[in-house]
Amino acid sequence: SQAEIGLIGLGTMGAALALNIAEKGFPIAVWNRTTEVTRRFHATAGDLADRVVPTETLEGLVKAIAKPRTIILMVPAGQAVDDQLDALTPYLDSDDLVIDAGNADFHDTNRRSAAGLPFRFLGMGVSGGEEGARHGPSIMAGGSADDWDRIGNVLTAISAKAEDGSPCAARMGDAGAGHFVKMVHNGIEYADMQMIAEVYGLMRDGMGKSAGDISTVFDSWNAGPLQSYLIEISAKVTAANDPHSDKPMVDMILDRAGQKGTGRWTAIEAQHLAAPIPVIEAAVMARNVSARLDERQAGQARFGASAQAIDLPAETLEQALIAGKILCYAQGFSMIDAAAKSFGWSLDLPGIARVWRAGCIIRSAMLNDMADALAEDPARNLVMAPYFADLIESALPALRQVVASAIAAGHPLPALASGLMWFDMMRTARGTANMIQAQRDFFGAHGFERLDGVDDKHGPWGASH
Ligand code: 6PG
Repeated sequence: SQAEIGLIGLGTMGAALALNIAEKGFPIAVWNRTTEVTRRFHATAGDLADRVVPTETLEGLVKAIAKPRTIILMVPAGQAVDDQLDALTPYLDSDDLVIDAGNADFHDTNRRSAAGLPFRFLGMGVSGGEEGARHGPSIMAGGSADDWDRIGNVLTAISAKAEDGSPCAARMGDAGAGHFVKMVHNGIEYADMQMIAEVYGLMRDGMGKSAGDISTVFDSWNAGPLQSYLIEISAKVTAANDPHSDKPMVDMILDRAGQKGTGRWTAIEAQHLAAPIPVIEAAVMARNVSARLDERQAGQARFGASAQAIDLPAETLEQALIAGKILCYAQGFSMIDAAAKSFGWSLDLPGIARVWRAGCIIRSAMLNDMADALAEDPARNLVMAPYFADLIESALPALRQVVASAIAAGHPLPALASGLMWFDMMRTARGTANMIQAQRDFFGAHGFERLDGVDDKHGPWGASH
């Protein structure tokens, strides 16, 4: 009998996804560019091997799948996807469906969707790392509703389930909408990670805490409002010892962050959309600064490190992180809303929060409340939802105290600080852009709007020119 679905690319994520699909009862044909990888995958599939059809040619793969076929691509984003689509073209019928499940740039997914491919096409963001792909990822799809309906049963079956049992898999909208939402997910992932790293830095450099002590703090936070996958793994990584040196593992890791680009894409896209997401931008900036190791070493040699001792109760740091997290997500959701308007997508904000509740890297208890708050009124900024407005109000003094003390003591915390900057601007009805407008009008006669409605949009600068 033929396989119900096919998968191309048996790297870490592809292999895990294929096993997940087989485990949920769907016979799957697999193919990898290197046949040895396919053979090894089948040989190590254990109980699931009889639901896996290993194939050694692309044509063989296509033939092994029942019509109309569905093929999941799990190859590196970029040119490899275009190459694979080209390679598949001669073998596929017009009602066959190809799903790009990699971390594609959503502009590429838009382009591929509009290119008139000779088969059906969905772009699908998959989050949760290897563990998620194997046992239940969060799935964000983009493309036509018909194509989603055709394969939705498989994708919901393999996806993570939220506490209420609902699957964390949904169609976000047309074309690149799924990859767009996954991109913003990753931007938020960068920001969550950066804010955790910032409070880690305060505890390590300002308070002289050992990795083990910091782990205990993270552990206790994971039992409260900050309960989340990223806090949980932060407790785990700070608790681990390096087998080579027997020192804490984190103390042996070079402080230079890698990035494949999705966070940077979020920041770039936010600029195109004029959507303020300073917490995410700060997180990308921080990774970029971290990468400039030589520059930082020269900086410290010339100026000395600035960090002084600081003493803040763990509860204050926790509250600051709660505030920072709300601000970051509020910015992320507001960017998604801006994209929906700009691209003509009907993105379901509460639905997105629900899909992020389990399976993905940013899964957290707070996303339940965010989904509820967005469902009340998706058009309202999350910080204005009564539940979160109250939470921000009570956590804000801690955020201000942490940011102020850290700045005074010379500890960099760009993400937390920029969250606070945004918040203080957002709550200021009379800001300072009148000054910008006056300057623009002075040097370029750009004109301004007046507060009193008088019909004169230029200042009396003539004489001073
Ligand atoms: C996920 C992650 C994943 C991402 C890695 C690495 O949702 O499972 O976002 O898709 O590729 O986290 O990202 P960076 O290399 O950019 O840190």
